[in-house]
Formats: sequence, C-alpha cells, structure tokens
Amino acid sequence: ALVSSTPMLQQARKQGYGIVAFNVHTLEMLQAVVDAAEESRSPLILQTTVGTVKHLGIEYIANAARTAAEKARIPIALHLDHCQSFELIIQCIRAGYTSVMIDQSMHPFEKNVEMTKKVVEVARALNVNVEAELGKVGGVEDDIHVDEDMASLADPNECQRFVELTGVSTLAPAIGTAHGIYKGEPNIDFQRIEAIAGIVEVPLVLHGGSGIPEAQVKRCVALGMAKMNVATELKNAFTNSLQRFFVEHPNDLDPRSYMSIAKTVVKQLALQKMELCGCTNKA
Ligand code: 13P
Ligand code: ZN
Ligand code: NA
Repeated sequence: ALVSSTPMLQQARKQGYGIVAFNVHTLEMLQAVVDAAEESRSPLILQTTVGTVKHLGIEYIANAARTAAEKARIPIALHLDHCQSFELIIQCIRAGYTSVMIDQSMHPFEKNVEMTKKVVEVARALNVNVEAELGKVGGVEDDIHVDEDMASLADPNECQRFVELTGVSTLAPAIGTAHGIYKGEPNIDFQRIEAIAGIVEVPLVLHGGSGIPEAQVKRCVALGMAKMNVATELKNAFTNSLQRFFVEHPNDLDPRSYMSIAKTVVKQLALQKMELCGCTNKA
C-alpha cells in the first residue's frame, strides 16, 4: 500500500540524506521512477501537480501509484504538489494520496497559517503528510508563475512560528532556488537554510531541484533538506527522448517503441538524482 511520506522524511532528516520526489505526468514516467527506486532500493515519493491531476484524473493516478506500491519492495508515497485548493486536497486524500502540499505562499503569513492549519486538522487524522511553503519560490511550475523580483526568501523565525502554529509535518522554505532550469546558477542562501534547520525540527523540502549543481544539492541535503522536488529535468528528458526518436525513426509509430526508450531515459535520470541525494539503499 502507499505509505505516508512523513516517517521516511523524518528518517532522512535524522540521518542526513534526501528523498527525491519526482513529478510524473504519464504512466511511463511513473513506472520509470518506480523501477529506478526499486533497483536502487530507495524510498520514493511520486508527485503530481494540480495540472497533471486534471490531465490524467485523480483515480487513474492513485490507482497506478497503488499498483506500483503493491508490487514494489520499497516504500512509496503519493504526493499532491503545489495545491491551493482545500477541496482538491480532500478529493486527492479520499482517492489515496498519502501526502499533500497546501501552497498559500502567495498570501500573507496569517492566511497561510490559517489555511495550512485547516488541512493539517483533516490530514493528521488520516495519517497524511502535509507540506507548506514559506517565502515564495520563483520560476514557473504549471500555472504558478513567480517572477524573479516577486520571489522572496523565508524568514527563519517565521518558519519556526509557522510550524508551531500549524503543526505541519514538512516545510518548504524558499531559500533561493526556483522552478525550471536556471539561467546561470541558483543563488542559494545556505546560511538561511542552516538558520532554519537550527530551529525547525521537521524535514525541510527543497523545491526547484532541476538544474541545481550537484555540490549545492549535497550541501542543501546535509543542512536538513530531506526532500528534493524534481520536475523540469525529468519532463525535459522524457520529451527530448521522444523528439530524438521521431527524428531518427519517423516511420516507427508504435508507442511501445518510443515509450520504452523514454522510460529508460527517465529511469537513468531518476537513478542519478537518488544517488545524488544519498537515498539509495535506504529502503
Ligand atoms: P523543478 O522544475 O526546478 O525541478 O522544480 C520542481 C518543484 O519544485 C516541484 O514542486
Ligand atoms: Zn515546487
Ligand atoms: Na529548478
């Protein structure tokens, strides 16, 4: 069965490694990251955005993830990424999601607290993990666009107060990363991560995982980032492999041909990310 992501993330934070949460958009992408996690014995978080929930349908996603969890010998959680709607969160939990993100980072602190608390109250009784965001992560994620000059970093004292007030089980503080691929390098505020981790005990979540140089990912994880979200790199790898396939084999129209290749490409990338975060052989 699908498991809550809370225990696996707490263990990761305690032991100083990170679990990778992969945003998947198709059955093949889901299968590819499950294969990678199985092969490397890594705990896994499957993640879908609101856009993907609308695209595939909650039940299709939940059932595919459940099937994967039943067959796999590793723990698998299913997480709803960046959701602003309380109603959709409830629907996803009812369908079997074991982890949800209530993203009210666009609102003032008090409103963020209020909405997050509301979700925590429901989720706690059902053993569902809750993630919330403080500060604003920049970049583009589905239909959430945050311009660079609108992005803001999380305040450590607010992080501590937020966790106390809401009882949230995981916190995503904005610390300088952004959604999508960076133009240069991200400008990560490592001192801020250290300050937050020093006063916040819950596992911290690193958003904007695509494109962060490896050494910087390792530093973030060592400082307490116990979950890293990877969306854009995985999506690009999947789609680029299809583009290459059709250039090389314009007459092969069998989905099983090009999807098998795309699956292998996604699996290899997933293995790299899990190795990087240190979660291999932790399941
Ligand atoms: P990237 O698209 O940069 O990998 O960010 C992923 C993310 O934070 C999803 O919530
Ligand atoms: Zn994100
Ligand atoms: Na990124």
